[in-house]
Amino acid sequence: MSFYTFFKYRFVVYCLVVGFAAYAVVWLLNNATRPADEGDFGGPIIGLTPEQNRKFFLSKAFFEKKFTPQEGLGPLFNERSCAACHGDPDEIGGEGRDLSSTSIMNFARRVPTSEVAKKPLKEVIATLGKRDVDFFLTQGGPSLQRRSVTTEFPKLYPSDVQIDFEQIPIDAELQSNRHAQIIWGAGLIDNIADGDIINNALNEVQEHPELAGRPISAIDRFNELPRAARFGWKCQQISLLSFSAQAMNIEMGITSYLQHTENTPTYLGQLPFKAQRVLPPTPNDNGKILLALTYFQSTLAPPPRGPITPQVKRGDEIFHQLRCDVCHLPDAKTVSKVKLPDPESPLPKIRYIECEALSNKVFHPYSDFLVHQMGPDLADGMPQEGARGGEWRSAPLWGLSRRRYFMHDGRAKNIDQAIDMHGGQSESVRDEWRKLSKEDHDALLAFLKSL
Ligand code: HEC
Ligand code: HEC
Repeated sequence: MSFYTFFKYRFVVYCLVVGFAAYAVVWLLNNATRPADEGDFGGPIIGLTPEQNRKFFLSKAFFEKKFTPQEGLGPLFNERSCAACHGDPDEIGGEGRDLSSTSIMNFARRVPTSEVAKKPLKEVIATLGKRDVDFFLTQGGPSLQRRSVTTEFPKLYPSDVQIDFEQIPIDAELQSNRHAQIIWGAGLIDNIADGDIINNALNEVQEHPELAGRPISAIDRFNELPRAARFGWKCQQISLLSFSAQAMNIEMGITSYLQHTENTPTYLGQLPFKAQRVLPPTPNDNGKILLALTYFQSTLAPPPRGPITPQVKRGDEIFHQLRCDVCHLPDAKTVSKVKLPDPESPLPKIRYIECEALSNKVFHPYSDFLVHQMGPDLADGMPQEGARGGEWRSAPLWGLSRRRYFMHDGRAKNIDQAIDMHGGQSESVRDEWRKLSKEDHDALLAFLKSL
């Protein structure tokens, strides 16, 4: 063997060994430290039975489906599918394409005759409650619908039937843009016991009264009982079922048994007779769509944790020392027996399936599911359920690594900006964060990006 050939082979062997070692290290970092129950971004939660897995993919199709007016879309709507705002074009369940197309605008004004209307808005915006605010209900408020079926599907309608999309009334002094959330792991959040959320509030009042949040109670439209809310930027919704019914109604104009009135200005009233001929009867959905959407989101895997390096561990300690973990509470658990509505129920009867993959699970959303007063700069003045103008749910921090926009309206373009904007009850914690050394700051950031 010539010297050259020997050198060439030795080099190849060397490359193979180094390449394999590097691959093994990356694999170990990515997989060995992962808690057992996680799945992949956009995939089903680990532990479903084969039958439950089949139902996951069946109901996923409803989440991705682009609905048509014949199927109930409209007359006013924002997007044709849930996935358009929650994931498209990346992994399903993620934050979506960009801020402008996936956001929702809410609008309102102070009740013109009320006491609070006489003061400068900035002075009262953080404390406005429901009785202080007019939500423009007769003009399609409080959520804006930007598209109309007659402009988007002109061939379907007689030319003398035209429906204008909604516009924000000129006297809407309160305007609140909301960023679309990630919904990975939503089924785990849905199944936290009400008592656990209330306990979070009691613990905070005793141990950190200055940071303590409030639970929000709302009526479950399905059985008309009060429950501890946990979904939405203001913790305004109690369950995935009711959130989905509302999203179908507001974002897509699809009415269901739970939300049977179109969210349109009342002057639109019933659609002109000519337009009705091509539309399905109201409510548009007999429960099939609603149950499928609920099942899909319930069984969507939580965001998998990134590698846990020594720097990440150090960041975890700082997160605790600064008391970020009072509001962004790391642990939560689900009730011992979770039952999900079967997407293949013999409607109108709803059948329930026991889901072991969701039952009695400890998970790490990094939220207490309480609202906190975050001060006038973050306040939007829109009360929702019991949450006031400046109160927001401690945003769950899992999945931060897959996010590009932060805070309720996506005004923060990176994690540092988001922390820097913490005001109100979190101001003192934010001030301590500003004093961190470069090394500790970077460790905290590495930790947050591993969630
Ligand atoms: C036009 C964009 C858009 C569409 C379409 C849309 N959403 Fe959303 N979604 C949002 C925004 C924005 C929020 C935050 C709303 C808030 O809390 O104020 C949200 C929040 C949610 C949440 C709460 C998540 C959490 O952690 O609290 C759920 C659940 C949800 N949407 C489900 C759905 C379903 C189901 C559909 C389809 C029927 C849907 N969405 C369609 C924009 C959209
Ligand atoms: C008093 C409670 C409280 C404390 C303490 C607190 N936060 Fe927050 N945090 C919130 C609330 C409420 C929001 C949502 C605000 C909004 O959407 O406008 C939030 C949002 C965030 C976000 C943006 C998440 C998203 O989904 O956009 C990050 C990141 C964050 N906090 C990190 C931290 C860190 C790091 C600390 C400690 C230095 C901390 N927070 C301390 C309550 C708190």
